Amino acid sequence: MEDRDVRLVELPTVESGVPEAVGAISVLTGGEDCPFEIKRIYWIHGGRKDEVRGHHAHRTLWQLMVPLAGSFDVILSNGAESRMFRLASARQGLLVGPGYWRTIVVRSEGSVLMVAASAAYSEADYIRDYEEFLAFRKSLRGADELSRTDGRVRDA
Ligand code: TYD
Repeated sequence: MEDRDVRLVELPTVESGVPEAVGAISVLTGGEDCPFEIKRIYWIHGGRKDEVRGHHAHRTLWQLMVPLAGSFDVILSNGAESRMFRLASARQGLLVGPGYWRTIVVRSEGSVLMVAASAAYSEADYIRDYEEFLAFRKSLRGADELSRTDGRVRDA
């Protein structure tokens, strides 16, 4: 999968910063560490090991996922290929653009996944049916073809 809107982002991290302390501070600045303005932050927590969530895609939403504690596997599919990201470091975020079917697996008890999102919650932005997702992906590819040809449909 070579999609440009799915990638791991290294978050600026201050090591310790305080004498005698070994902990670190990682920072997520909207517009700098993620390419969208953050409108909402939510976190997934309290899940049991191996619990599975997700099973949907978003039409327009951008997200940046940071495992604040523990670890998660995030499997993303563009309809043709899928890729798994193991999120286990609070120093990194996973950027996910619109149009990716996601499956999220809680890898350890006590894990907390923070998600910064580009818009307020809207059920209308969700695609929860896989066939509908594939049709949405196909419509995106059609739009791409048109923009590459200046709106002129190429000869077959
Ligand atoms: P959903 O995004 O489907 O969860 P996950 O991808 O983690 O499995 O959301 C689960 C439920 O929570 C759904 O009924 C909508 C609700 N919800 C909100 O009300 N506000 C929110 O910001 C989010 C993310 C979910």
